[in-house]
Amino acid sequence: GDPDAGLMFVGEGPGRNEDEQGRPFVGRAGDLLSKMIVAMGLSREQVYIANIVKCRPPQNRTPTPHEVDACSDYLRRQIMIIQPKAIVALGAPATKFLLDSSQSIGALRGSWHKYEGLLPNGPAIDVMPTFHPAYLLRQYTTDNRKKVWSDLQQAMARLED
Ligand code: URA
Repeated sequence: GDPDAGLMFVGEGPGRNEDEQGRPFVGRAGDLLSKMIVAMGLSREQVYIANIVKCRPPQNRTPTPHEVDACSDYLRRQIMIIQPKAIVALGAPATKFLLDSSQSIGALRGSWHKYEGLLPNGPAIDVMPTFHPAYLLRQYTTDNRKKVWSDLQQAMARLED
């Protein structure tokens, strides 16, 4: 993505397609994410897309706390370099890591939170949690789509501040 991006997306980890291509979000969930980005009036080249873990967990299982820990310095440095205006956290593992919270994604999505994990005096970065595109594909209801679109609209408004 763009190293000067105002908006960063953080997902969970590579799936099979991502692992093969060495790029994030290039499978079905990636296609939906691309559509979401275009609907926001942006292109993939204008945002920065990262994942919590950098290797594919076996059978696509949720990364273990140890695996998240092993990759966290890399992600922290990505965030430090990009210093986006806002991060959209895609799904529960990204939200849990960025907000250090065990509250459910349903409870956290839809409002702004802060990522405080940069250097001790570094800036806190605004985080908007939303449902992961893979979850949305599984539960493609009008209600879920409205919720995600409303979260993304808040992120768009923050970019324009
Ligand atoms: N899901 C993710 O969380 N990240 C990817 O890169 C692809 C699918």
